[in-house]
Amino acid sequence: MRRPLIAGNWKMHKTHLEAIVLARQLGHELGNHRFDAVEVALCAPFTSLRTLQTLFDADHLPFALGAQNMHHQMQGAFTGEISPTMLKSLNVKYVILGHSERRELFGESDEEVNHKVRAAFAAGLVPIMCCGETDAERDAGSTEAKVQRQVAAGLDRVTPEQARQVVVAYEPIWAIGTGKTATPEDAQKTICFVRGVVADRFPGDVAGDVRILYGGSVKAGNAAALMGQQDIDGALVGGASLEAAEFASIVKATRA
Ligand code: PGA
Repeated sequence: MRRPLIAGNWKMHKTHLEAIVLARQLGHELGNHRFDAVEVALCAPFTSLRTLQTLFDADHLPFALGAQNMHHQMQGAFTGEISPTMLKSLNVKYVILGHSERRELFGESDEEVNHKVRAAFAAGLVPIMCCGETDAERDAGSTEAKVQRQVAAGLDRVTPEQARQVVVAYEPIWAIGTGKTATPEDAQKTICFVRGVVADRFPGDVAGDVRILYGGSVKAGNAAALMGQQDIDGALVGGASLEAAEFASIVKATRA
């Protein structure tokens, strides 16, 4: 049984003070939510992580804390970077790695994503590893080739025990922040394919345990249909995660 995960990707939004307001609103909206059935993570900017850690503790908010990136070294002369151990010490559970914005705007390669995935596991963090095709790649019929390359490279030299814990987010780039969503059937098809890529590389039932999320313009109105698909184990939510009622509706639309 895979426990669904709804993860909010706040991107570069919210000061630490605004983060408190949003997390409290979410706590209120999800007051009756069964977090043991559907997990909820908030992936906030670095500057809000300490604030949210203390808020979750003080207010007993059962959210998992997530970051959106990190360096792959544990420490060193890397001005401006944040290490896996720094995140771990803030009780961060998840770290989004290889988001298409990092790949396309900041030049992250598959190899770099793989370094980060392995560093996350070494530090006791769970990677939310992203993959997905552009509009042009979709039109050229190369969606599967693209996600296969990204997923295989990202999980290179990862042990089966680690692979079992990884969260993969399939996010078609043309659907991110555009209001266009993959149809539930198309998302299911590609996510099922991604599970097959994991199954080809890892023994036994590893692939059956891996949670694979859909991301790209997930909203309250389309969440139930997407989350109802057999292989879709949750969502990575950008824009709609910045609005408490909308994000809470996505969580409530997700069944264990
Ligand atoms: P979106 O972003 O929900 O705003 O499309 C998703 C993401 O980039 O993770």
